[in-house]
Amino acid sequence: MADGPTLETERLLLRRWRERDRDAFAALNADPEVMEHFPSVLSAEESGQLLRRIDRHFEEFGFGLWAVEIKWAKRFIGFCGLAVPTFQTHFTPAVEIGWRFAKDQWGSGYATEAAKVVLDFGFEETDLEQILSWTVPTNQRSQRVMQRLGMKRAPELDFDHPRFLHDDRLREHVVFRITRPEWAHGPSSQG
Ligand SMILES: CC(C)(COP(=O)(O)OP(=O)(O)OC[C@H]1O[C@@H](n2cnc3c(N)ncnc32)[C@H](O)[C@@H]1OP(=O)(O)O)[C@@H](O)C(=O)NCCC(=O)NCCS
Repeated sequence: MADGPTLETERLLLRRWRERDRDAFAALNADPEVMEHFPSVLSAEESGQLLRRIDRHFEEFGFGLWAVEIKWAKRFIGFCGLAVPTFQTHFTPAVEIGWRFAKDQWGSGYATEAAKVVLDFGFEETDLEQILSWTVPTNQRSQRVMQRLGMKRAPELDFDHPRFLHDDRLREHVVFRITRPEWAHGPSSQG
């Protein structure tokens, strides 16, 4: 697995994935609470396949879903990063910011802290004009992260996820957006 780009915050290191992350990532993906808003938990094999797809995404685009590690403990706790969706809908192509953290690490501000440096990267190191984030309406925790980042609801972008059937509980998605000028003038640019 390759190096870079690497991002850093006060408490966190966002880095490319290592072989040693495999088991902790599989445990996270096997947790029904972490995966509540996804179709199912992942088997160890499916988790490994996802890890390979994430790694390939970095090679293709130069960015991706970074592995997040607590610096002082050198402990892998989840991912946060930018992803180009492989499905098509009315607003694609697009770039999404996403996150997934181990349950015992929720409530520490890690997702928002990691996402801020990811948005810095997105607007400083690429020429993206906007970054989106989407989830199911019931995923309130994820929507609170979006709000804490200064992302705004964009109801005109809401969509039915094409990977799910009409009556699926996960089909309806709400979309949040942040634009380059909004991020430049947001709270993180003040300090
Ligand atoms: C979505 C998810 C990343 C949110 O994690 P989170 O820990 O709630 O989010 P944050 O990192 O922003 O943490 C904010 C919480 O930490 C608290 N906190 C504690 N110390 C803090 C600090 N130093 N700085 C900031 N917040 C802190 C905040 O008060 C807030 O608590 P609250 O939820 O009780 O109001 C997490 O629930 C998750 O991984 N879910 C499963 C995967 C998923 O659904 N991903 C999204 C798919 S679209």
